[in-house]
Amino acid sequence: MKISLIHGPNLNMLGKREPSIYGSFTLDEINKKIAYRASLLNIELDVFQSNSEGDIISKIQSLPERGADGLILNAGAYTHTSIAIRDAILAVSMPFVEVHLSNIYKREGFRKQSYFSDIAIGVVSGLGVLGYECALEALAEHLRVQGRV
Ligand code: DQA
Repeated sequence: MKISLIHGPNLNMLGKREPSIYGSFTLDEINKKIAYRASLLNIELDVFQSNSEGDIISKIQSLPERGADGLILNAGAYTHTSIAIRDAILAVSMPFVEVHLSNIYKREGFRKQSYFSDIAIGVVSGLGVLGYECALEALAEHLRVQGRV
């Protein structure tokens, strides 16, 4: 099973960025934790981070030819603005789980709007790094039950 993990803008700043909200792990440390969980589940994990909306869209468009079965997406602030990323996900019909480190529902009002939640299998918000691990388990189970892998 092949799963793609995409991190959006400013997530490369984790560790330094608002640690009271996002915690003190760096993106590298988070990726290592998720990769370890993926290895236990026999999942091939492909990790990508970009601060650019266009690069994220191109990456999503390339997922079928790369043989990805599913996607875990933390699109950062693009969650609240990007119809273009939504359209890219719909264009490739990629099953995905939306993840946020913080609980977007107890923050500013503009963060409560997501362009992805209604087309996601599910959303994990506010569980920090554990949220990615939950998303991985849930996505793998979903793909199995759907007979997609
Ligand atoms: C975030 C929440 C977004 O509102 C914010 O813009 C981010 C990170 C999270 O992981 O909690 O960059 O997606």
